[in-house]
Amino acid sequence: MGRVVFAAKVSHVPSIYLGEQPGHEGLHDSLRDGLRRLGRVAREAGVETFVVFDSHWINTIGYHVNVAARHEGVFTSHEIPHFIHDLAYRYEGDPDLGRAIVREARAGGQDARGHDYRSLGLEYATLLPMRYMNPDGAARVLPVGQNVNASWQENRRFGEAVRRAVEAAGRRVGLVASGSLSHQFWPNEEAPRRLLEVSSEFNRQADEHVLAQWREGRVKEFLAFLPTYLRVCSGEVNMSDTVMLFAALGWDRYRGRGVLYGGYEGSSGTGQANVLFDVDDLPPPVPAAGEQREREG
Ligand SMILES: [Fe+2]
Repeated sequence: MGRVVFAAKVSHVPSIYLGEQPGHEGLHDSLRDGLRRLGRVAREAGVETFVVFDSHWINTIGYHVNVAARHEGVFTSHEIPHFIHDLAYRYEGDPDLGRAIVREARAGGQDARGHDYRSLGLEYATLLPMRYMNPDGAARVLPVGQNVNASWQENRRFGEAVRRAVEAAGRRVGLVASGSLSHQFWPNEEAPRRLLEVSSEFNRQADEHVLAQWREGRVKEFLAFLPTYLRVCSGEVNMSDTVMLFAALGWDRYRGRGVLYGGYEGSSGTGQANVLFDVDDLPPPVPAAGEQREREG
């Protein structure tokens, strides 16, 4: 039986990477250090595969999983090429777990597909967290796309499918929700001089509120807040990464808490944090709808 042995919500902002470059030293040190420490926790937990809910692999129709046996390439961001360019990467993939996720999502009635196209490269919401959390590529990497047109309810069902697949595939898995908290950018003209500020006081307070809910284990309260939070605070891909993470952990049956790894920081107007979630005593996975009917019948 497989198991979720690690779960985290993480930041992937390009300025974390920029902070490594000459002339930008110190930028987002606490986020970068937080990712490195999270990586060490994952290694101690024996993570074999990181499943990354990648909010920069944006899908418009259906759910998509990168089931390639190996991810290898050189990445330049189309969005912000002066921050991230010519970044070489090489990770082993996890076709078996990837195809299990597709199978379980389909069993739950969702349109899901796995792909191993050679030119389907990784996006930076996978590459940057993996750069610090998985620096030697010891763990496999399995990117999961995020559908910008999916409702949070659909994303919840997909996250439940991921959990079923983990149990079925016999892997020790680290779940990584790679996405922002609030996600309202500054207007372009203001962005350069406000790089490290959150763009609205309302969003900043909402993010702090959510971080407190996670820290104190007020999960039901957070889940009641979430549908409005993701909309009003401009959630990155509707905060699908967060929805999938909580669904995989057990949704309102989850009793864990979240611990901040690094600070809460603004980046180009958005709210950023790394949070490690408890994975002890997770509730059992939710059966696919068909299985549920069979059991009840
Ligand atoms: Fe992003």
